[in-house]
Amino acid sequence: MMKKIEQFMLYHDLIAGIVAALEARDPYTADHSNRVAEMTQTICGYLHLSKEKTALYHIAAHLHDLGKIGIDDSVLRKKSSLNDEEWAQMKNHPVIGYNILHKIKAFEEISNIVRAHHERWDGNGYPDGLSGKIIPLGARIIAIADSIDAMMSSRPYRSAMSADKCRKEIEKNINHMYDGEIASLALKNWEGLLKKESTPVMQG
Ligand SMILES: [Fe+2]
Ligand SMILES: [Fe+2]
Repeated sequence: MMKKIEQFMLYHDLIAGIVAALEARDPYTADHSNRVAEMTQTICGYLHLSKEKTALYHIAAHLHDLGKIGIDDSVLRKKSSLNDEEWAQMKNHPVIGYNILHKIKAFEEISNIVRAHHERWDGNGYPDGLSGKIIPLGARIIAIADSIDAMMSSRPYRSAMSADKCRKEIEKNINHMYDGEIASLALKNWEGLLKKESTPVMQG
């Protein structure tokens, strides 16, 4: 019988293959997902989570935007800002990802995290309007890592935000978008978080 952590290693390699399929359509999302996975793992360390939980959330972070595989090219690859209709389509990606991953029995918890990664602490997120600690912990961690990476990356329709400005944005949104406990830990360890100082549970 494989140990749980060995199982996760196997899954980790499997998902690298799945994410490569996404990369073929959307290179930005694939790179972004790798960075979010690293940052998620670092935050798990600040929270002193177990190796198993850390591995699980790391994998969930790799897969968080998998549902973008189901978004039309005209929306996914658009070089300017999205209009309302296009946004409505884009906002389906957490549910599309959930629908794909939910079919894998061992990925049940991961599928729920993927579904919830755009929920907000105050309940104003999507797709289910969950709030506070009802949002799975993995999703609350990924939400912060996701925002930091997205803000600090340049996109065709806007330039990257500075580390200082990004820090202020996170701070401002504590208890609105983000779990205050997790966001405060991320801010307290800000330099290290951006430098990826984690001791890896898994590489890549
Ligand atoms: Fe997303
Ligand atoms: Fe993302």
